[in-house]
Amino acid sequence: KETKLWGGRFEESVTPAVEKFSQSVSYDKKLYKQDLKGSRAHAQMLAKQGLMTKEDCETILKGLDAVEGQIERGEFMWRADREDVHMNVEAALTDMIGEPAKKLHTARSRNDQVVTDVRLWCRDAIDDIVGHIHNLQDSLLKLALLNEGVIVPGYTHLQRAQPLLLQHVLLAFVEQLERDAGRLLDCQKRLNFSPLGACALAGTGLPIDRFATSDMLGFTAPLRNSVDAVSDRDFLIEFLSANAIIGMHLSRLAEEWVIWATEEFGFLTPSDAVSTGSSIMPQKKNPDPMELVRGKSARVIGDLTTILVLCKGLPLAYNRDLQEDKEPLFDSVETVIGVLEVTTEFARNVTFNKDRLQKTLPAGHLDATTMADYLVYKGIPFRTSHDIVGRSVALAVSKKVELSQLTLEEFRNIHPAIDEEVYSFLGPDNCISKFKSYGSTGFECVAEQLEYWCSKRNLK
Ligand code: ARG
Repeated sequence: KETKLWGGRFEESVTPAVEKFSQSVSYDKKLYKQDLKGSRAHAQMLAKQGLMTKEDCETILKGLDAVEGQIERGEFMWRADREDVHMNVEAALTDMIGEPAKKLHTARSRNDQVVTDVRLWCRDAIDDIVGHIHNLQDSLLKLALLNEGVIVPGYTHLQRAQPLLLQHVLLAFVEQLERDAGRLLDCQKRLNFSPLGACALAGTGLPIDRFATSDMLGFTAPLRNSVDAVSDRDFLIEFLSANAIIGMHLSRLAEEWVIWATEEFGFLTPSDAVSTGSSIMPQKKNPDPMELVRGKSARVIGDLTTILVLCKGLPLAYNRDLQEDKEPLFDSVETVIGVLEVTTEFARNVTFNKDRLQKTLPAGHLDATTMADYLVYKGIPFRTSHDIVGRSVALAVSKKVELSQLTLEEFRNIHPAIDEEVYSFLGPDNCISKFKSYGSTGFECVAEQLEYWCSKRNLK
């Protein structure tokens, strides 16, 4: 059995149960690229500072390249007895190049090394997720372009409220996604600082240059406080919060589309390519991918919760508990990318049923609020006009007709101020054409917003 890299003071080796329990290499090997990158920068800095010779540094750099090659070709032997990615790489490098490898860990601890790796990994993961957000935005914008002029019932309390342009609804999701991307990019700015050189917790007396490694690794600057640098995972909490919000947003979109795909609504039809069947009911065609998008948001929220709870009781500085940050991080990123990808696919494979939508629009008096606005134009105070329209709706309900089917006489019996013009405010198309406020569902407003998004995303 080989002695551990930290084995100097130990007389006994750890029990197999402890070894199995404490290893993290089975999952943190995912950080190998970042680990190698960090080691390259660290070695070059050590050489520049006279803490190792140029020749040793060259040997180390070549060795690290060779290790990378082995990993990429699947030839690298990941060993649980070497605990984690950091010691696997260092021990393999030592096996390969001998003495010079023993200088690599000068003025470095796994405590600053691991969090350097994780910050680098998160930086790239954020770019990746933002790319997937843009893809989803694009697919929603393309759907909007395909559905010009389509009106859908808008709901509050899941009860029919006012008519909306379908484009307006789709753009609502595009807006949410834009803030999601913004949150990630903010978080990326805040996490892009270098812990490297904080060592175990106190820094070092050796003449290292933390600014040099920070620059080489593309960080904005070294973190100012070595204790803080190895202790905190607030950047992960922030990142996973942003992911949880994405999960929540996509879960709502999924819920909406699952409802819209029902027989009862029938507003949209997913293509077979994004639907699945039942093992017993031959007629079934289910929107399972969207249900899973909704379901997977639970995981992403759980991942955030795990790291919050993980950190909340920890004293300064590094504690081994922090090793448990990785699986939720990886799971959150993988899951969020999955839901973004599948929602994008779904959006590319869905048809809105214009005829069905058209047929359902008369139900629910979606034009009632616009009629109240009409009475405001007539000089009637809004509270009074609300009441007048309320009574008109009651009459329409009792006669089982739409507001636009009430006669002028019936309207005038309710209030004499109503004239022929009222009909130009009734019916979904008329309603939409009346909307003018910034951000509203009016034809021009929505066209402008769609224009804005298409040029921002370089579409059309
Ligand atoms: N594998 C550990 C982690 O993921 C890093 C090692 C630090 N271990 C230690 N005993 N100081 O956090």
